[in-house]
Amino acid sequence: MGPTERALATKRDFLVPCVYHFYQRPPVLVRGAGAFLFDADGKRYLDCFAGVTVMNAGHSNPAIIEPVVEQLRALVHATSVYLTEPVLELAWAIAELAPPGLRRSFFCASGSEANEGAIMLAALATGRKEYVSLDGALHGRTKAAINANGLEMWRTDPFPLADFHRVPGPRHPDSLPGLERLLRRETVAAVLAEPVQGNGGIVVPPDGYWSELRRLCTKYGTLLIADEIQTAWNRTGRWFATTHWNVVPDIVTVAKALGNGFPIAAYLTTDTIAAKYTRPGAATFGGNLVSCRAALATLRFHQEHRLGERSARLGEHLRARLRAVQHRRGVIADVRGLGLMVAAELDAGPNSAALTDAVLEQMKDAGYLLGKCGPGRNVLAFLPPLVVEPNDLDRMIDDLDRTLASVA
Ligand SMILES: Cc1ncc(COP(=O)(O)O)c(C=O)c1O
Repeated sequence: MGPTERALATKRDFLVPCVYHFYQRPPVLVRGAGAFLFDADGKRYLDCFAGVTVMNAGHSNPAIIEPVVEQLRALVHATSVYLTEPVLELAWAIAELAPPGLRRSFFCASGSEANEGAIMLAALATGRKEYVSLDGALHGRTKAAINANGLEMWRTDPFPLADFHRVPGPRHPDSLPGLERLLRRETVAAVLAEPVQGNGGIVVPPDGYWSELRRLCTKYGTLLIADEIQTAWNRTGRWFATTHWNVVPDIVTVAKALGNGFPIAAYLTTDTIAAKYTRPGAATFGGNLVSCRAALATLRFHQEHRLGERSARLGEHLRARLRAVQHRRGVIADVRGLGLMVAAELDAGPNSAALTDAVLEQMKDAGYLLGKCGPGRNVLAFLPPLVVEPNDLDRMIDDLDRTLASVA
């Protein structure tokens, strides 16, 4: 039995079956370096998924690992009822990068938890109990967050919460009018939205969409929560994606790439909204010293290596190369994205999802791990570490071109 067969057998016996994996024959990953991953057989893969846009600063980055190891030796955990310095340094550093006014952070451990906290904070701040989210959204797997999801495959709760409403996604003509009809009732605490929908298929909203979201929320006394869990930390070419449209949300949630692989998440908000939350609030792992040290080193690395500019430049290059492939291979219906958050939607009619899986499998065998997303699971997602070299992306596109020719 090889490492894959052994791992699959153990997984079948001991994990909850909802934990699914990509690929018929998934590799067992054991090591990472920069933009590359290595499996138990020593095979090397160019990572084009970054663990769902987590490893933006690259795998096993010594500039992040070294300070983390130092912190591990000194103190791993204390919890938030004690004073420690890394969490305060991090809150200060984030306040300097965040959209204007979002100076206050509440730290926790995962994206779902950050959204759950933001949802509760909006109720405290507005005295309202309803929420609106968008079709195609993914906000998490905890009770409230899962009810905000707008993708059927991620709406598992058998008893959906009545206070969560949904309107069509950002590219649908009834998205904003539908939203306004709900907000007019003045019972909605918050609208939750991803600046670029990630799991929903890397959907970039039309120009003016976010400014209109902002205007409507302000008009009806509703808070605007930007779920930047995928988009923040330079994935779209900026620290925060909402700055592409000069929009300042009331609450921003972040996670994923903040810790570059160490679990850390937060919601960020204004002094005024934060002032509504004065009863005790604590997260055992919120402000964990190791994760905060990792996040501080991550932000420094992003700054020193100008990863925002790199993301914008490489994203444009990747989309141009994908469009050239699109001209040759009719099976690519659309190429889109912002920064190095890039999608190629495949269209083979009813076989689109199966074709996408076949492309993923062949690309894996050729040494590339791509992502997939979209309501029909027919969108190839390209979310490599932002440190990826352009010639490695070029090689990947050459192989994708050959793969599309052979599977189509
Ligand atoms: C936009 C967005 N929000 C929230 C989440 C949930 O984050 P987590 O898995 O850390 O709970 C995800 C996860 O992929 C996400 O993409």
